[in-house]
Amino acid sequence: MTELTTLPTITVLGAGYVGLTTAALLAHSGYMVYAVEPNEERLQVIQSGVSFFYEDGLDVLIKTAIDNGTLIATSSYQASIPKSHIVFSSVGTPDNPDGSSNLTYVFAAATEAAKLMPEGAIYVQKSTVPVGTGTRIKQLFAQENKQIPYVSNPEFLREGTAVFDTLYFDRVVAGGDDFGAVQAVTGVYKQLELHRDDIADIATIKKSRQVGHYISTNLNSAELIKVTSNAFLALKISFANSIAKLSDVVGADVVEVMDAVGADKRIGRAFLNAGRGYGGGCFPKDISGLIASGKEYGVDLAIMKAAQDVNNTMPTYVIDKLSKKLDNLSGKKIAVLGLAFKAGTSDTRRSPGISIANSLVSLGVNVQAFDPKANEEASHNLDPAVIITSSIEEALINIDVIIIATDWPEFIKQDPSFYTNRTTSRVIVDAVNKLDKHSYVSAGLQYIGVGR
Ligand code: NAI
Repeated sequence: MTELTTLPTITVLGAGYVGLTTAALLAHSGYMVYAVEPNEERLQVIQSGVSFFYEDGLDVLIKTAIDNGTLIATSSYQASIPKSHIVFSSVGTPDNPDGSSNLTYVFAAATEAAKLMPEGAIYVQKSTVPVGTGTRIKQLFAQENKQIPYVSNPEFLREGTAVFDTLYFDRVVAGGDDFGAVQAVTGVYKQLELHRDDIADIATIKKSRQVGHYISTNLNSAELIKVTSNAFLALKISFANSIAKLSDVVGADVVEVMDAVGADKRIGRAFLNAGRGYGGGCFPKDISGLIASGKEYGVDLAIMKAAQDVNNTMPTYVIDKLSKKLDNLSGKKIAVLGLAFKAGTSDTRRSPGISIANSLVSLGVNVQAFDPKANEEASHNLDPAVIITSSIEEALINIDVIIIATDWPEFIKQDPSFYTNRTTSRVIVDAVNKLDKHSYVSAGLQYIGVGR
């Protein structure tokens, strides 16, 4: 590996949720960063100095880095990769119809990079890939007859808190068989750590005294750590949802149950939240990708199939619970509040809110939907019969039922009078289990939660 005396130049391939966040933050840490994005529409937005998705604190970081000349957004491999000492790949890894990971973009990016990377430059995989992918990419690099060290450096940021998570990370995992390359990748995050409080100031996000762990592993372990982390979180959610269904039958409150269960330090309270199930661009595909990896290597991951099955039932479960309370849903007017897959983002990939809204339409319901950040993105996947409103107030006009489908603070932190003053509806479905049930019941609303 080439010894570097100045900070390396970095290219990030794929300026999506992960790549753009990473590129913007590294561009504020002393690095010269190229963000390579082939999607012309996305690229133009980024070049204009903002993000194409909503993420707290990100826009100002993009704008200032572009103005300072430390971040260059381009569609050109030729203009970026040959100058770079480290190339991060954060291209998309959607799922194939059979649930396995679609690695088309991963291999396209690696193939192009291998041709243009200078000898000794390091290739770093941030995309979530099935175990064994790095070994295949290394074989591809070997065919180029070039010395390109390969490091798996999975990403753990959460949309909605992506800037904070990247600055104040719990852990950096770097796996590979070239010790120097693993150290160099770790060094990038140490450099970021030096600047993190200053970057938080620019982004006007909260700071933390978080001490992050650096974990070096072998290549296959690093790849497996990422999907295993998401799989475990998905298991916890589906576990909570299974207990929620039982709670509904026996008259328990799953929030009370999980508060007490999660108070056991061996278990922990996080992700034991029952509700309309998980969605987004990661969990659903990462779980199906893990199941597919199991199949490929002859290991039956029945536990993950069960988690997936439970999750798939949840949007319908919410609707069924409501329809049992009302005589007939057909002809009713319902407000669906929340179309992003979770609060803090405009991302609507596999959003349960959208699936609830569309299912209601198929049952003859008139749906009025609103999301503070995701209306535009959701419009591409919503049934055309859904009326998208420009404010929460408008969504609440003349409705029979309110459904809270995303845990945005403006929906869940309201006093019940916020709703009772704006609508005659007295039925509220808390599909995220985040409302204070008792205050809503005391205010005269019929409260329907998931397992409560
Ligand atoms: P995304 O779809 O928003 O971004 C990927 C970008 O790569 C797109 O803008 C696409 O145009 C670009 N791209 C496609 N082919 C390319 C190529 N050959 N060269 C350069 N760019 C190319 O995806 P997102 O959400 O950023 O995810 C990226 C990876 O990170 C995925 O593997 C995902 O599983 C993983 N991840 C995502 C997290 C998230 O919260 N979104 C969190 C942790 C990991």
